[in-house]
Amino acid sequence: MEINRNTIIKDLIETHPETLAVFKKYNLVIAGGVRGPNEPIAFFAKAHEVNYDILVQELNEAIAKGGGEPVEIPALEEDKVYERFVKTAIILTLTVGVTFGAAVLSYVAVKLDFNSIYYALIQAHGHAQLFGWVGLCIMGFALYIIPRVKNTELKHRNLVSTCYGFIIVGLVLRIILQSTPISALRFLLLTSAFLEMISVCLFAFIILRTIFASKEKVGIFDKFFQAGIIWLLISIGINCGMIIYLYKHGTYEIPKFVFSPFVHLYLFGFVFMFIFAINVRTVFAFLDIKPVREKAVNITFWVLNASVPIYFVAHLFAHRSTVALRVTQGIVFLIAFALISFIYGLRIFERSTKELQDVVMDRSYAKTIRTAYLWLIVTMVILVIIPFLGQDSDIQRRFHGSLNHAVTVGFITMMIIGYASKMIPTFKGIDMYSLKLSNLTFILLNTGCFLRVFSQILVGINEKPLFYAVMGSSGWFEVAAIGIFGYNLWKTMNTTQEVKSPVAGRLTEVTKDTKVFDIVEQYPETLQIFLDFGFSQMANPVMRKTMGRVASVEMATKMHNVDIEKFLHTLNDKISSKK
Ligand code: HEM
Repeated sequence: MEINRNTIIKDLIETHPETLAVFKKYNLVIAGGVRGPNEPIAFFAKAHEVNYDILVQELNEAIAKGGGEPVEIPALEEDKVYERFVKTAIILTLTVGVTFGAAVLSYVAVKLDFNSIYYALIQAHGHAQLFGWVGLCIMGFALYIIPRVKNTELKHRNLVSTCYGFIIVGLVLRIILQSTPISALRFLLLTSAFLEMISVCLFAFIILRTIFASKEKVGIFDKFFQAGIIWLLISIGINCGMIIYLYKHGTYEIPKFVFSPFVHLYLFGFVFMFIFAINVRTVFAFLDIKPVREKAVNITFWVLNASVPIYFVAHLFAHRSTVALRVTQGIVFLIAFALISFIYGLRIFERSTKELQDVVMDRSYAKTIRTAYLWLIVTMVILVIIPFLGQDSDIQRRFHGSLNHAVTVGFITMMIIGYASKMIPTFKGIDMYSLKLSNLTFILLNTGCFLRVFSQILVGINEKPLFYAVMGSSGWFEVAAIGIFGYNLWKTMNTTQEVKSPVAGRLTEVTKDTKVFDIVEQYPETLQIFLDFGFSQMANPVMRKTMGRVASVEMATKMHNVDIEKFLHTLNDKISSKK
């Protein structure tokens, strides 16, 4: 099999199992289901920082040495450690998360009054989203990705089920009991916090043991993972404190001056550190841009981790200390500076290096990752305005709600969707179930988020019913977006990678009636010929799988006005050279 930049790794491993050793040497710690990654070699080389030419040379040497001897492929097992975390996160957000949030928003819009909502319900929604949607997604991805970027095995895998079970029971108890005043069952609130605490400690233990067991050289992203774990442990500690407060005082609402800064400590601390770690390790390859500017990224790490605790403590006392209030007004600029430094360091809006422009692969996730950073900029702007809008005034609360939404939906949820749409198909070695649905999710989520963030700000400035109406409808765009994403990802997660039946109906000669899909499926190296003859849609794996299954060579050459004889001759030349 001739290797070129678009050769799909799983096809090469299938045809030449002896190449697996080379891929393993370069950190291919089995991703991609039972047959290996569904990724072009050139992308793999960039993502794993391997020199493409050296890699291909070693692969060819392995093949030459293999000399076509039938070598047994070791059983590649699909690692599904992330699946139940991600599936449960989707169920939780589509029930007590976005759907409940959208219903509350419509209720507020009808009442034209934000104070008409029972705040304990909002805090239950908030907890479900923070730990149920975002928390579970990050836990699931981290358990899969961290062993792979650290080229080691996941440690204490046997503890993952306990970690999962405890967080789910804890979450369900909290969501139900914080908002429903059943005094006889209030002791279960303490139980929920305790179970969540154990789960988070188990997760931290598994991740830190895996990172420290790795012999891989320490990367700039390592400290972000470790800081993220520390902030998660601090967050779950504060969460326990808040629940003990509720239990002791027999109340249902955590004081706003504690809950709101806690939300930001969790987001800017734990969530940002994990997202930034994954971005630093992968974005340069995903977006085909230059590697990160390490100095700028390091500035972000130290400034953000120094600012978050100051931000939290200052907000705890801002309502009764002018000094603390002044600190809240100052610290937001440091946080904004840290975020700007990261965007500069990550090169997220810079031009592509075009290193991978000839590589055929789905890039639909790229716009989602970039748009998430646009929402981070919106977040930053609102963040520096808030402290100057009259402490605890209605307008400040409205801006605060917009900030939360811009960061939780615009940046974090968008990032989760962008990465899940790239990573989960990669984990499984298949394509995303539907790119059309991915694009629909992108449009609906951005529409809903835009309407929410800006109409809620307008409501803060002028309580016009029109602004309330727009805000009240915004949540349903987001419910539709995340519902479609959940369906699309669920279908992808439930797709098993087909094991090709060897040589069944193998093509020996291409005729005018041969389906173009069969040609490329059986002889991946012919893809380049299709591209050379101008069949650019063949670059799209979905088009190949759909149109390609119905279009014969005759139909395709007619549609593109290509000389069929010349085309058939070139294809058969290539195929016969393989025999
Ligand atoms: C996507 C659709 C969503 C809708 C329609 C929605 C709706 C709401 C509403 C109406 C409120 C109360 C009003 C306010 O504080 O502005 C709220 C608060 C909150 N939401 Fe959401 N939300 C959504 C997504 C999320 C996500 C993805 C997260 C977290 C990851 C989240 C976390 C929170 C938190 C923590 C609060 C309480 C904030 C505070 O009081 O400081 N929400 N949400």
